[in-house]
Amino acid sequence: MHNSKEIHPNVHWVGASDRRLDRFENMFPLTDGVAYNSYLIMDEKTCLMDTVDTDVSDVFIDNVLHVLNGRPLDYLVIHHMEPDHCSNIQAIARLFPDVKLVGNAKTFTFLEQFYPMDLSNSYHTVKEKDVLDLGEHSLSFYLTPMVHWPEVMMSYEPKTKTLFTADAFGTFGAHNGNLFADEMDYKHTLLDEARRYYINIVGRFGTNVQNAFKKFSNLEIEMIAPLHGPIYRTKEDIEFIMGKYQTWSTYQPEEDGVVLVYSTMYGNTELAMNFLASELADLGVKDIKMYDVSKTDASYIVSDMHRFSNTVFGLVTYNTDLYLKMAALIDEAVMTKFSNRNISYVVNMSWGSKALVSAKEKFEKSKNLVEVGEPLTIKSSLKDNQTDELKSLAIAIANSIQKVEA
Ligand code: FEO
Repeated sequence: MHNSKEIHPNVHWVGASDRRLDRFENMFPLTDGVAYNSYLIMDEKTCLMDTVDTDVSDVFIDNVLHVLNGRPLDYLVIHHMEPDHCSNIQAIARLFPDVKLVGNAKTFTFLEQFYPMDLSNSYHTVKEKDVLDLGEHSLSFYLTPMVHWPEVMMSYEPKTKTLFTADAFGTFGAHNGNLFADEMDYKHTLLDEARRYYINIVGRFGTNVQNAFKKFSNLEIEMIAPLHGPIYRTKEDIEFIMGKYQTWSTYQPEEDGVVLVYSTMYGNTELAMNFLASELADLGVKDIKMYDVSKTDASYIVSDMHRFSNTVFGLVTYNTDLYLKMAALIDEAVMTKFSNRNISYVVNMSWGSKALVSAKEKFEKSKNLVEVGEPLTIKSSLKDNQTDELKSLAIAIANSIQKVEA
């Protein structure tokens, strides 16, 4: 049973959604599933853009066969070789033995690493700005390495003014019928997931995103067609998501606000963080997010750390070092190049004091983290005589907001 949609005359979406997958890349939790976009241009030549993951193969193949309506497939463009988009390349090649696989040299290296079928006779290798003529439509290729794999490329179709962007501008979340961002309350329903997707999947490669931006800065873009999530086709939506990518890829905070993330074994560090949050609220700080590092997956916390100007870490020492989940969170933040932010510490120890030293060592790899206020140190639990210290830290944090410069 097919479920495809024509998104522009003779350009069809032939992808699929998966709401049963628990974790993207077997790591990042999916609460609303994920969409795998694939596009099929019907012209003098027929051209499929990418495939989908194995879990949704059946509907994808039905979509492709339905749109082709008996015609053969001439080209399969492979923008990105991660298996969530490539798991059906062999199936397509079996259905259409004469199909040409369009990729760059690195594409085919990865293809041979992942899949056993010898498809070398089908290779159509492209380089930067090569053009694939399909009839009225054509595709120009732009190599965009490390957004977020080495072989990634994007393509521009001038008749529809569409940029096919691989994973860039993607988001977690299955499609709910509508495919276009302007058909949904995107900013409220999907922006947080678009940020979590970008920060955790692509975030480390901001410089490469900036390099990609330079390549298509002179293109007239009326539609952005990513491999995940909604398609952007209004000027407002295109400018909005590109603006977000500009902020995210240059590691600038989107908003003033404070993330308080803590490790707590018996609730004492949590209590101290609650008092601090309350003091911040009394000082007029509006956007305060609190996370127990053991309760919330790190991908959500790291995403909000990139979103806001300030983060306070509630550390405990565990087995003479950082509490393991806090250590993992900080490692993940450093990997995503968390930088240009204000950070502060609340440190709880009963008999060991290594947590703060370890956290600071980890953050030595990050750029332009400004430590705000004196770390508030507590011995097992916050005491009444530490109220002044707590208030001083809260005042320093409140005063620091809007004071980070890259
Ligand atoms: Fe959606 Fe990097 O694959």
